[in-house]
Amino acid sequence: MSFADQVDVRQHLLNLEKGAVVSYSFELECFPSDVAVNAERLNEAERLRYHRFSTDSSRFSFLASRCVVRSFLELSVPAGPIVIDLETGGKPICPHPQSPCFNLSHSDHWLFMAFCQDQALGVDVEETNRANDVDALSERYLSAAERERVDLKGRDEFFRIWTRKEARLKASGVGLRVRLSEVDTLAEETEGHWHFDTMNLSDGVVASLCYAGEPREHIYTRC
Ligand SMILES: CC(C)(COP(=O)(O)OP(=O)(O)OC[C@H]1O[C@@H](n2cnc3c(N)ncnc32)[C@H](O)[C@@H]1OP(=O)(O)O)[C@@H](O)C(=O)NCCC(=O)NCCS
Repeated sequence: MSFADQVDVRQHLLNLEKGAVVSYSFELECFPSDVAVNAERLNEAERLRYHRFSTDSSRFSFLASRCVVRSFLELSVPAGPIVIDLETGGKPICPHPQSPCFNLSHSDHWLFMAFCQDQALGVDVEETNRANDVDALSERYLSAAERERVDLKGRDEFFRIWTRKEARLKASGVGLRVRLSEVDTLAEETEGHWHFDTMNLSDGVVASLCYAGEPREHIYTRC
């Protein structure tokens, strides 16, 4: 399937205009053939990074994600090449006033990205069949309440919470410059400051998105 077949451009723009969060997943193995995956589309800093990746798959994932994000941003910012800058914490943004906010995440085989016209957001995708030591990671990175929930519900819950935590850190742009166990996504959701949406993109692939402010409609497309 092609990008043109899978992305309804008019609907995408209408959804952004009405304030919705719009998200897309891509399986890297069947990446749309009509997205120009071309290092010429990268800026200088991105090109330097592109050449530093040590594996073909991570290099492709980086290039494909930055190219497909540009394809989406070009729909909102029709004039001129898309500029992507980095905030202090490393979050990529497009500074053009007409650009939507966006965020993206990679796993070994998937890309997940989300857009919202007027609200910063964060996303994360993880493949849950990786041989992670969930107990050790929980102990190190989760709050007491999050650990308790994982003990009760099991491994899948760990990945739901993990993706929520990363999405939350990426929504605020801080990345990992905070002590992760001090960010309690369960309390934050209850208090209503942050909104989370978690879903299975496929068997063993979980993704979350997070944003502040009022709850939004979320429209997801698997490409
Ligand atoms: C950004 C971060 C938080 C997530 O990285 P990650 O899970 O390794 O990778 P992801 O693919 O999900 O996210 C990386 C993407 O997030 C975006 N990003 C990078 N820094 C960001 C920031 N500060 N805020 C928001 N987005 C950011 C970028 O688009 C980046 O991909 P790109 O450079 O190829 O475009 C990273 O700082 C990190 O080091 N993560 C380590 C994982 C960990 O220990 N997690 C514990 C959670 S319980």
